[in-house]
Amino acid sequence: MGKEKDFKRYTVTAALPYANGPKHIGHLAGAYIPSDVYVRYLRLKNKDVVFVCGSDEHGTAIPNQALKENTTSRAIIDKYHALIRDCLYKLGISFDIYHRTSEPIHHQTSQEFFLNLFNKGLLTEETSEQYYDDEANVFLADRYIVGTCPKCGHTNAYGDQCEKCGSSLSPSELINPKSTLTGKVPVLRPTKHWYLPLENYETWLREWILDEHKSDWKVNVYGQCKSWIEAGLQPRAMTRDLDWGIKVPLPDAEGKVLYVWFDAPIGYISATRALFQEMATSKHNFATPQRDFGKVEEGDWKKYWQSEDSKLVHFIGKDNIVFHCIIFPIMLHSSGQYIVPDNVPANEFMNLEGDKMSTSRGWSIEMHEYIEDFPDKPDVLRYTLLTNLPETKDSEFTWKDFQAKNNSELVAIFGNFINRALVLTHKYFDGKIPQRTELDVLDKATIEALAKFPGKIGQSIESYKFREATANLMDLARLGNKYLADTEPWKLAKTDMKRVGTILNIALQVAANLAIVVEPFLPFSADKLKKMLNYEGKDWSLAGSADLLKEGHQLNKPELLFEKIEDEVIEKQVNRLLENKKRVEAQNQPATPTKPEISFDDFSKMDMRIGKVLSAERIEKSKKLLKLQVDTGIDKRTVLSGIAEHYAPEDIIGKQVTILVNLAPRKIMGIESQGMILMAEDKDGALKLIHTGDPVSPGSTIS
Ligand code: 2FM
Ligand code: ZN
Repeated sequence: MGKEKDFKRYTVTAALPYANGPKHIGHLAGAYIPSDVYVRYLRLKNKDVVFVCGSDEHGTAIPNQALKENTTSRAIIDKYHALIRDCLYKLGISFDIYHRTSEPIHHQTSQEFFLNLFNKGLLTEETSEQYYDDEANVFLADRYIVGTCPKCGHTNAYGDQCEKCGSSLSPSELINPKSTLTGKVPVLRPTKHWYLPLENYETWLREWILDEHKSDWKVNVYGQCKSWIEAGLQPRAMTRDLDWGIKVPLPDAEGKVLYVWFDAPIGYISATRALFQEMATSKHNFATPQRDFGKVEEGDWKKYWQSEDSKLVHFIGKDNIVFHCIIFPIMLHSSGQYIVPDNVPANEFMNLEGDKMSTSRGWSIEMHEYIEDFPDKPDVLRYTLLTNLPETKDSEFTWKDFQAKNNSELVAIFGNFINRALVLTHKYFDGKIPQRTELDVLDKATIEALAKFPGKIGQSIESYKFREATANLMDLARLGNKYLADTEPWKLAKTDMKRVGTILNIALQVAANLAIVVEPFLPFSADKLKKMLNYEGKDWSLAGSADLLKEGHQLNKPELLFEKIEDEVIEKQVNRLLENKKRVEAQNQPATPTKPEISFDDFSKMDMRIGKVLSAERIEKSKKLLKLQVDTGIDKRTVLSGIAEHYAPEDIIGKQVTILVNLAPRKIMGIESQGMILMAEDKDGALKLIHTGDPVSPGSTIS
């Protein structure tokens, strides 16, 4: 069992997302929602906690995306940093700072970190042979080499992985390797790098993880660490040959940058440093911090990272375990300056409607899409994810479940209870908390049960069981809902107003308790509820009491906490998902192979002109054909074109088209077509007219 320490403060981190594209709701379920619940809970308990995150802006993922979007790496990180940050805040993830690894303070912190290890002689230098593109004059990162997979024969496997069969590869295993930059065959060249000899820390790791954290780390995390340690640790290069990243701060390191997995976790430290720098100098450029840190000094960040009485917790997804449990801790420990994590509650993955969630395959719900479609429902997503967190194994999000969680739990239990309690109090007592008089057995049992909830919920949160905590939370709402259903105050109103007062008083105490304990989970709804109750509810230690709202306390007007989600809304989302997938599949289809070669003479036989569509009409009995009158500049003629499923007649009248004018006339459905309109056919079969862009007079030739 990890020693139960009395920690003075908490340093909570959530994995830095790569700023190379939008992030989906699986990422939220992996790291951001659980960490946010944890931190909001600690804040309510008045703990000294700092919550940091930011964009991971280095590594080959960034220039790769720049290549795809035909822009610069800088443009990519600026675009996606802003997108991801804004989405996370809109969904209520309450970081004290959302930093960036491209900031100078991060470059400085990472270089200092590297130099400290280097100066202590803890890094080893090794020269090895790596692939080099001698036309582009660069060493090739694994992702810049493609070739045939030795395992499955796929001809487009990357140097680090075959995306067809999923095998992880090293570039030297690829058959017929080619550089993606120039298409040339790369050559092996010697290059020097700095390595962290992980194997030197095996004894320390065994003690720290395998002994000390045997029972407080999650089974999935502990198991992965154990198998890594037992497989034998190897030296790992901490530098790369790349022109995007943090320069290696040594004189003989031209063209070399720190490995992205060396600098990214240091990003947690630089974010904390930046936060305190900002707060100390009152330059609040960020939308944060989320709590009042009081008067601080620039150097106060050190307390969160270098003081043994600080509890460091990393929230991540399972693909990041080795970096946060083995490599980064070795860096922290060997630095001689930093604390190591007390826990790394990594989650497994969340699937979507029966398949793996993946942005590149079009099978995902991106955060920004959700926010666009459900701008006033961040808590519904938070709730659905919380009830389905992949804490012990992969889990699943479905739109049907989303609807059911909203309609049958948030609306029917939580919302219904709050609404009834408030509406009845307004109706019978002018919205003032009524007097509580004699208690019957059910009243006492309800008050007794209520007292136990905050402790239970808190216990689950502190042991990183957020699903369990969420279920307990809904049970508290259920307790209130059932209490009203059993006591039926609306029926007693005619005969026993004193009794109605007692019942509503108790119900409203449950509501006030909910306002406190629901905040970490559903912060937007908690705010709404607190407003309705006219109650601050900022102190977890008060929760459990049946005396939160004093007799005579004035309530505000009730409004609905949650709204029903109709079937059509859900169907629309499911259809969009299917369409997205189809679109991405079509985009990823290989282009149609080229036809056999033709001579220039063959080509010059074709007489192609610009024409103008004078009229267009559908042809009876044909779904595909439109009959067009085209001004070719030479004459005005009839041409039949198979575009009726893609253009309405009125859409193309007046349009400029490309027409082959010397094609032999053909009779189709009894009408003679005198030429052919040229069209582009997309991979998904959609036909588009070929435009020249600028207006050109009819009859202009194309060559
Ligand atoms: O896997 C990822 O998305 C990484 N960008 C996570 C980095 S976490 C930390 F080390 F910064
Ligand atoms: Zn393969």
